[in-house]
Formats: sequence, structure tokens, C-alpha cells
Amino acid sequence: MKRVDDFRLKFGKKELVPIMIGGMGVDISTVELALVVAKLGGVGHISDAMVPTVSDRRFKTHFVKDKQKKYKYNFNNTDKSVVQFDLGQLAEATKLHVGQAMGAKRGDGMIFINCMEKLTMNSPKDTLRVRLESAMDAGIEGITLSAGLHLGSLSLVQDHPRFRDVKFGIIVSSLRALQLFLRKNARLNRLPDYVVVEGPLAGGHLGFGLDWAKYDLKTIVNEIHQYFAQEGIHIPVIPAGGIFTGTDAMEFLDTGSAAVQVATRFTVTKECGLPAKVQQEYFKTSEDNIEVNEISPTGYPMRMLKNSPSIGAGIQPNCEAYGYLLDGHGHCSYIDAYNRELVKHPDGKNISVKDKTCLCTHMRNFDCWTCGHYTYRLKDTTHQLADGSYQILSAEHVFQDYQFSVDHKIALPAETV
Ligand SMILES: Cc1cc2nc3c(=O)[nH]c(=O)nc-3n(C[C@H](O)[C@H](O)[C@H](O)COP(=O)(O)O)c2cc1C
Repeated sequence: MKRVDDFRLKFGKKELVPIMIGGMGVDISTVELALVVAKLGGVGHISDAMVPTVSDRRFKTHFVKDKQKKYKYNFNNTDKSVVQFDLGQLAEATKLHVGQAMGAKRGDGMIFINCMEKLTMNSPKDTLRVRLESAMDAGIEGITLSAGLHLGSLSLVQDHPRFRDVKFGIIVSSLRALQLFLRKNARLNRLPDYVVVEGPLAGGHLGFGLDWAKYDLKTIVNEIHQYFAQEGIHIPVIPAGGIFTGTDAMEFLDTGSAAVQVATRFTVTKECGLPAKVQQEYFKTSEDNIEVNEISPTGYPMRMLKNSPSIGAGIQPNCEAYGYLLDGHGHCSYIDAYNRELVKHPDGKNISVKDKTCLCTHMRNFDCWTCGHYTYRLKDTTHQLADGSYQILSAEHVFQDYQFSVDHKIALPAETV
């Protein structure tokens, strides 16, 4: 019987176990998780989402405080256009984060970074350029461009000395989006090194509307394979979203995909950044407690647990500290939604905003429980303990289960006593 380990992902002469762990912001796909994956010969992702905040937590820097202090005077102003990121600090935070991962890396795998275009940070081009350049400076091996079409992202770094050495990939959810990306970047004479095709069952933001259930990953992947065959294009295709067992993964590899990208099963590992309490919520959840809603100010639908504390919360926008979703004019749709409710409750108390959420603050505090569609199956991947809680897994165990399992079986971990 075939299994994932019968296949290899090839980047030039480099051969990898064809399992990529997707980026999960904010620091859910941690350096620790990426290091295990690299050690085991796969591709691990860190994420550069809210990287100054992550740096403060990990390296005791004061980037958030500094920014908050600088713009404190603007806190009650609904116009956030003055609130800008210090590009030097952004570069430093990225270098610390990436540098830590690359410095500790062992093994034959690779470490990539997930870079979301929708984090427009009140200055989309400049902040994205700094994020990309600093990750390349710090030795990142690959950059996965996500949450956006990224039509101009590669050209921002085309003069970087590592432009042709770092692996670049793009996440798409349709052939059309991919064609647009390829057309817009044709003049750079540099094709992406891989394409992640993310279907409707993935976690995080989705490249589909609320009609996501009408789409199917296999169909989209096949369309892209056919297009590549027809055009003579050779770019590794990496499906993602709802690939829950080693056999699910093997079936994609056996039909021409180069690797798979997975995430949900790693959310309940000890190396993952989610707090232990939140991991238990993921384990416990049922299928009808998972929804795709439109509360993210990015404009993309997002999948999450219905009992996420972020849903219906009404905190004051905190863009002076964060502000990662401010567009190029200092605007975020949560600010409008919050202000509308503030008119109804001028004392600022008991505000509940139902249609949007302050995603920066809630992601930072692990209060927006974004997850993949099959999160409700996580309880079947481990043991339930005497107190009713579920046993946390190790990333190595989950990785090797994907790599070696057959027949849709999922190996349970050794029981802790
Ligand atoms: C908790 C969580 C957070 C995620 N955050 C991001 C993110 O920040 N950027 C991104 O491109 N994809 C994100 N994703 C999507 C994953 O990288 C991955 O492509 C997808 O979830 C794979 O499907 P699976 O979770 O069913 O295995 C996230 C997924 C999860 C489960």
C-alpha cells in the first residue's frame, strides 16, 4: 500500500518529505513547530503576522509599547491615518523572529515564512517590502505569499541579492487567481517555486465566499494540473485544506501533486502556539460548532469555532498598539462597526459588535479560534484522559503519522500516565 513516504518534494537537487505545515498567525505555527518539521525533513512555516508583537513576547523588545506611547494622543480619534509602523523596528522584529528559527534549524528540511498581503499596516507597499526583505536578510529559505493576490509583491524585492535563491510560493484558491499572478509577474522572469492550492476546508481566511461548500479541492487542483500540462509549466502543486490522514495526502501525491500543506492536526501539538486551554476547545468541538463567517475586517471569510471569545466582543479599536489591518488610508471596517455601536451606547459600556471583530487584538490574545473544517475530528487522534481532557500530541508524532500511515488510519500517541 502506498504512503506519503514513497514520494519526495523536489526543489532542484533538494529532496524533502512532501509535507508542508502551513503558516498559522499569530505565532500559532511557532518557531518550535517549524524546527521539528525541518528536523524531520519536511517544510515548516513560521508566520510574520504581527511580528513586532511576537518579538515583544519572545525577545522582550518594546515595539508595541513604543508605538502605543507615540500615538497615545490619537486613541479616541476615529481617524487612524497618522498611526504608522516604524519600518526600522519592523525590520528588527522580523530579523529577530526569522533569525531565531534559522539559527536553531537542524536537519534536512526547510523553514519558510507565511506572509499575508492583507496585513496592510497603514502603508501596504513599504511595510510589505520591509517584511519580505528582512526575512530574506535573516536567511529564510522560502516565502509563502498568502491572503491576497500579491500581484506586485515579488517586484518589491526583485533587486534583493537573494531574490533568485529564496523559494517563493503563492497560495491560490482558483486557477483564475493563479493565472492573474503568473501574468502580472511574467516580466520578472521568475516563476514561483511552488503553488499552494488552498481549498474550502482550510483554516484561517478563505479564498471563497460564503458559498465555499460548493467548491472542492480536488477539482481545483485538477484544473491547475491540466492547465500546467497544457502550457508546459512545471511548478510543484501543493494542495491544502481538509487533508486529514496520511492516505488523504498520499492520494494527492499519487495524482501528480508535489506535496501537501496541512495545519489543523498540528494545532493540538505541544509545539503549537495555542494556549493549552484553547487546544482543549479545539479537541472538544463538534461539527456544528464550526462556522465560516464574515467578521474578519480583511473582507475574506474566516472559519472559526462559534464559541470564540472574539465573536460579538466590543472592545475599543486598538490600532495605536497594533493596527495591522489598517488599509493605506488608516481605515479598518471594525472601526466603523465599533463606532456605530458606540453611538447606541455613548458610555462605552456593554458594547457588542456582531458583524466585525478587532482581529489584531483577538488574534494576539488567542481569542479568535480560527480552525480547519475537520477540527471536530481531532478528538479521534488522541486519548481522552480520566479528567475528561484530551492528551496533547507531539508535532513529531503527527508528522510521522502523515508520513507513514496507510488505509486512512490515524496512529494514537503512547498514552501518558
Ligand atoms: C489556526 C490556523 C491559523 C491559520 N493561519 C493562517 C495564516 O496566518 N496564513 C495563512 O496563509 N494560512 C493560515 N491558515 C491556513 C493553513 O496554513 C493551511 O493552509 C490550512 O489550514 C490547511 O488545511 P488543514 O488545516 O485542513 O490541514 C491557518 C490555519 C489554521 C488551522
